[in-house]
Amino acid sequence: MPPLSRLYMDNAATSFPKPPAVAQAVFEHLAHSGGSAGRGAYREAIESGRLFDRCRAALRSLFGLRANDGIAFALNCTDALNLAIKGLVPTGGHVVTSAMDHNSVLRPLSALAERSGVRWDAIVPNAETTRLDPRAVADAIRPDTALVVLSHASNVTGALQPIREIAAACRAQQVPLLLDAAQTAGHVPIDFEKLGIDLLACPGHKGLMGPLGTGVLAFCQEFAARIRTLREGGTGSSSELPNQPESLPDKFEPGSQNAVGVAGLLAALEWILERGVAAIRAHEMELSAAFVERVSGIDGFRLYGPIEADRRVGVFSFSVDGLEPSEVAALLESRFEILTRAGLHCAPLAHRAMGTVANGGLTRASFGAFTTMADVERLADALASLSGVAPTSARRLR
Ligand SMILES: Cc1ncc(COP(=O)(O)O)c(C=O)c1O
Repeated sequence: MPPLSRLYMDNAATSFPKPPAVAQAVFEHLAHSGGSAGRGAYREAIESGRLFDRCRAALRSLFGLRANDGIAFALNCTDALNLAIKGLVPTGGHVVTSAMDHNSVLRPLSALAERSGVRWDAIVPNAETTRLDPRAVADAIRPDTALVVLSHASNVTGALQPIREIAAACRAQQVPLLLDAAQTAGHVPIDFEKLGIDLLACPGHKGLMGPLGTGVLAFCQEFAARIRTLREGGTGSSSELPNQPESLPDKFEPGSQNAVGVAGLLAALEWILERGVAAIRAHEMELSAAFVERVSGIDGFRLYGPIEADRRVGVFSFSVDGLEPSEVAALLESRFEILTRAGLHCAPLAHRAMGTVANGGLTRASFGAFTTMADVERLADALASLSGVAPTSARRLR
């Protein structure tokens, strides 16, 4: 039998492979351009600045943003979330989030609680579907609530949250809604206006298929003045001023910026815009429906979160009777060359809500734009094979 090729099923952590144009753009910048945006009036520095402008334009088009809405580049989604959360929530303020949210939301909130008396509530979802009830979010908003921050889709179960309904409740009470689109940007069509959101944080390196080290905070125009800076420093502009400029993009982008990463991200966004996110979503929904159907009859196998493809993204967490999550991931790699991720996935409250903490979490497989139906079948067959072996013989298989 020919050796199996390695099958990457961890797109929820970072996407792989990337469109070939991404590596090419990174190479081009490193090998033939090399300028740093805003640092010089020579051609290479200007070209580098243009990359950022074009990337902002592509992101505006992707998220239905207007020309004067803001886009700040960040290191990753965590960095973008920190900027929005710490920049908007005042000392002693209140925040609403959910138990389905990631540590990149929960830990900044814990730090603010410790350092500046911020209080926060995490709404618990339905334990089966892991979806939130929009009324529970609306009821948690108080007069001193400064922000609602929620993940669009869970990085554990793939459950899509009813953001449109939640956004309407936030608007009615005039509380800004920050969407953590780490698992949806590039996977699910997102339009600020249609969804009713105010701010969005996302990685450039997951569904947007850019390089690691890229992230984005996008926000409606009014928030440019309201968000306080997290970092201050040189911007290559207004250098005579002692304070950080208030103008965008300089306000939130001090220091030399990641032009190499942004060159790759721009190439990835062009690839996505050419195909259309709706087409990527349709493909991933087809894969999700096929996966659910193929694994639903497997004895000793349990899938968590919604089963309907239109209520989820292609992020699946599961358990196999008699095996620990880390054993499932290890066997998938050693026997089937399938790469997945076991544990709590940086979302401890989500696992607590599902009752999966004591077992060490779950094993997660996640699809991307390049995942094929044959890949999904290979994963489902591997899981059927693992579920069919008794725990003791499974251990011997390693
Ligand atoms: C829902 C969610 N939010 C935030 C993050 C953090 O993203 P990054 O690794 O780009 O900081 C992740 C990463 O897995 C995530 O899944």
